[in-house]
Amino acid sequence: MGRVLIKNVNIVNENRVFESDVLLDGESIVKIDRSISDPMAKTIDANGRYLLPGIIDDQVHFREPGLTHKGDIASESRAAVAGGITSFMEQPNTVPQTTTIDKLEEKFARAAETSFANYSFLFGGTNDNLEEIKRLDKNACSGVKLFLGSSTGNMLVDDEAVIEKIFRNTEMVISAHCEDETTIKRNLAHYKEKYGDDIPVKYHPLIRSAEACYLSSSKAIALARKTGARFHVFHLSTGIETDLFRNDIPLEEKKITAEVCIHHLWFSDVDYESKGTLIKWNPAVKTGGDRSKLWEALLDDRIDVIATDHAPHTLEEKDNVYTQAPSGGPLVQHALPAMLQKYHEGVISLEKLVEKMCHNPAKLFQIEKRGFIREGYYADLVLVDLNDPWQVSKSNIAYKCGWSPFEETVFKSKVTHTFVNGHLAYEEGKFPGGRNAKRLTFNR
Ligand code: DOR
Repeated sequence: MGRVLIKNVNIVNENRVFESDVLLDGESIVKIDRSISDPMAKTIDANGRYLLPGIIDDQVHFREPGLTHKGDIASESRAAVAGGITSFMEQPNTVPQTTTIDKLEEKFARAAETSFANYSFLFGGTNDNLEEIKRLDKNACSGVKLFLGSSTGNMLVDDEAVIEKIFRNTEMVISAHCEDETTIKRNLAHYKEKYGDDIPVKYHPLIRSAEACYLSSSKAIALARKTGARFHVFHLSTGIETDLFRNDIPLEEKKITAEVCIHHLWFSDVDYESKGTLIKWNPAVKTGGDRSKLWEALLDDRIDVIATDHAPHTLEEKDNVYTQAPSGGPLVQHALPAMLQKYHEGVISLEKLVEKMCHNPAKLFQIEKRGFIREGYYADLVLVDLNDPWQVSKSNIAYKCGWSPFEETVFKSKVTHTFVNGHLAYEEGKFPGGRNAKRLTFNR
């Protein structure tokens, strides 16, 4: 791998943007200085482009094992590095589900062979695997995931006594999908009576309603407060839930945290008309008012991280009536360009974007030596050109499923290079020479 010198770059890191050179040696960043010379190093002249810490995505579904017609660890992690994501945490709703330590280790072994980005996996809590949860090594996996509302994969955990025991017996971050099942079932029955299976998709946010989200997340947060659990609510989608979170203490001191995803920051219910089931997600994309409140909470730090919930399904699967079309869509390749578009629109600063997509996932999950551009840290880096417009089209989509909800969108910013542990994993549309990904480690 040798030494790589990145010259004339604008570093975005720890609330600053500054001009610098950066020297990588092997898998690490060894020097950050205004002017570095190293004739033996391979030199990349960044020519004023912007260097960010590699994005850490705390919620992806890469579909392996068992659902590999939708995506697999190799294909989706490759798309991730094309989008500047250098580390991911994958979810347990695969086939079989990741609900035993053996299954968890099988995923790690598979990722070690095939992943382009650094990897970790969440362990799925169920109504009956508390003993396995207790045996997890807290420094070796990201944490526990609970589906407190059903979604792809039937992993609903609904035994309240068990949920309380999991909250009381887990030191790691417990991440949850929060949607109230009874409310959803009642709403679905109402629309089914009217439309049968062919319910217009625009009713999805009224079936998987704001009320369903709030009921579930507020209840789980109350339990986290009672038990002292370290609790992280995945993919907030409503304005009303944002008031459940605090911004008067630093992230390091928070015991209850929140994530928002790209699709809930980008789309709103008016988009169902043009995009149909392609933007059917759980939780549902809601109103423009909800989206504004999510942005507000993100920018005032009630929401801590931005993630993707990358969840590919084939176009064939999506092309079905409402009740048969699965929820979820692919996002890892386009998350950073989409958020950089919001920077161009004046919605978010580069520093804040880096805080929410790089620093905070590292802090929240206590990931070792990643998420920041610091000497001695792993050289997980993404170089972006803020002014090189390009259009998302089938010809440049890297997902195995071959489609994107962003198709035809023109993004102003482009990822040009992605380094994973000092290795150039992606360069200008190409993946020059293999993989160098590692299992994430944690400092807990
Ligand atoms: O829309 C979603 N799709 N939400 C989830 O929580 C799961 C995901 C999937 O795995 O398809």
